[in-house]
Amino acid sequence: MAMERTLILIKPDGVQRGIVGRILERFETRGLKIVGMKLMKMTDALASQHYKDHVGKGFYAGLVKFMTSSPLVAMCVEGPKAVEVARKMMGKTFCTDAESGTIRGDFGISRGMNLIHGSDSPESAKRELGLFFKPEELFEISRAGDAWVVSDEDRG
Ligand code: RTP
Ligand code: MG
Repeated sequence: MAMERTLILIKPDGVQRGIVGRILERFETRGLKIVGMKLMKMTDALASQHYKDHVGKGFYAGLVKFMTSSPLVAMCVEGPKAVEVARKMMGKTFCTDAESGTIRGDFGISRGMNLIHGSDSPESAKRELGLFFKPEELFEISRAGDAWVVSDEDRG
């Protein structure tokens, strides 16, 4: 099983509501490793690259307005099957549909303000991480307790 990296965004509603720490904690507790992180504002230009598959859709203008309205937290998270694991932790796209126990299902009730983004495939993750982070902003981090979180078999 390969180690993966994925892009996680704690969207402007998560920052405004002051629940960045509670969301972050779930990734750390799960054993995923944060190897890059910053507070930043999404520009219209970045939105059009990040959401290139949604440009022209009915919800695009509202999505960009929301995503550029206030700072967000961008993170690069690393671990075994990190892309899939993070998506499961997030829950379904709209908080109204998300299962309890997921981030969207526990912290949100809105459709549009859905708190978090996670890349949907390893290929998307690679592309999106390149939009948000310079190579030198992502780190190789060995932590003292890693041997009790991820085994040699997990590392592949
Ligand atoms: P995300 O990209 O944010 O992790 O969410 P996702 O994969 O679950 O959803 P995606 O289909 O990629 O859509 C990206 C974001 O666009 C908004 N959206 N609104 N009104 C609508 O029909 C609609 N569909 C999507 C959501 O904010 C979604 O997270
Ligand atoms: Mg998506």
